[in-house]
Amino acid sequence: MGLNRTEILRLLRETGKFVSGQELCDRYQVSRQAVWKAINQLKEEGYQVESVPNKGYRLLESPDVLSQVELESRIRTQVMGKSLHYFDVTGSTNADAKRLADEGAAEGTLVVADRQTQGRGRRGRRWESPSGHSCYFTLLLRPSFPPEKASMLTLLMAHSVALAIEKIAGYETGIKWPNDIVMDGKKVCGILTEMTMEAEYMSHVVIGVGINVNQSSTEAFPEEVREHAASVFMISGQKVQRAQLVGMIMEQFEEDYKAFCDCLDLTCIFDSYEAHLINLGKQVRVLDPKGEYSGTAKGINEQGELLVQTEDGTVRTVYAGEVSVRGLYGYV
Ligand code: BTN
Repeated sequence: MGLNRTEILRLLRETGKFVSGQELCDRYQVSRQAVWKAINQLKEEGYQVESVPNKGYRLLESPDVLSQVELESRIRTQVMGKSLHYFDVTGSTNADAKRLADEGAAEGTLVVADRQTQGRGRRGRRWESPSGHSCYFTLLLRPSFPPEKASMLTLLMAHSVALAIEKIAGYETGIKWPNDIVMDGKKVCGILTEMTMEAEYMSHVVIGVGINVNQSSTEAFPEEVREHAASVFMISGQKVQRAQLVGMIMEQFEEDYKAFCDCLDLTCIFDSYEAHLINLGKQVRVLDPKGEYSGTAKGINEQGELLVQTEDGTVRTVYAGEVSVRGLYGYV
């Protein structure tokens, strides 16, 4: 077996203790020199590795870097993110994932970038994607269920991201239906799901996620979104290692998706999703192309549709993907 820096990193991180040079040599069937070279390369990349004669190597700290090695060493799932494509810079990870899908990539293929030059947002908007502080990634799925169920995948991903951020930053998150992640009333994450059809079947679905992670002030955001945008760090005060966050989201999504595939509706995450739903009980305006209306958000149903009670007492269901919902008094 050749020497794989991902494996060394994973081993050092998961042990948390000294691992002797000899053990690494034996495990990977390589020379002392090869081990030493790999450790030095990790140090050059910003990892703090302590080397003590007769004891071996111990990982003290990892930098907040996105790289193939760092991401792979953080992903511990069976399917989601198992095949990983990392780019320092790319056009759009959604576009990359679609191209890979056309080339036959497997379900769970993950594309991650540190910077995007043509990041896409919902409703044809741009998603500004500079390097250094954010996560931009897209997950490829090849569902065998009917296309009308696909909009629920966006809610499912929103739920997974919300939970992962909470776990890593130790701070409460909310979901603005269907899929913006919000902290203290500010948007920290957006999700763009795109599906590709073949006759009446879905050939694949890509779920693209953009998270503002470590920006330290609103100046980092384009002027037009500044009022409503923030980063996880700005709200929670917690610097987050982006690769670790991606790894946690993959774990949470793998669990959520497995449960979803068993029942093909949102029963599996229903209570947890609603507990995060910040629109609940609030006045909302539904920007339906067939006619706008206002009402009170009452929750979601098992299909992920938002239930809005209008003034005359009727409850209308709003299908995710078709319409936009705004708070009557601002973003939320
Ligand atoms: C939104 O408008 O709220 C959705 C934004 C989605 C942005 C992400 S970043 C990774 C992926 N690649 C893209 O081009 N867009 C999505």
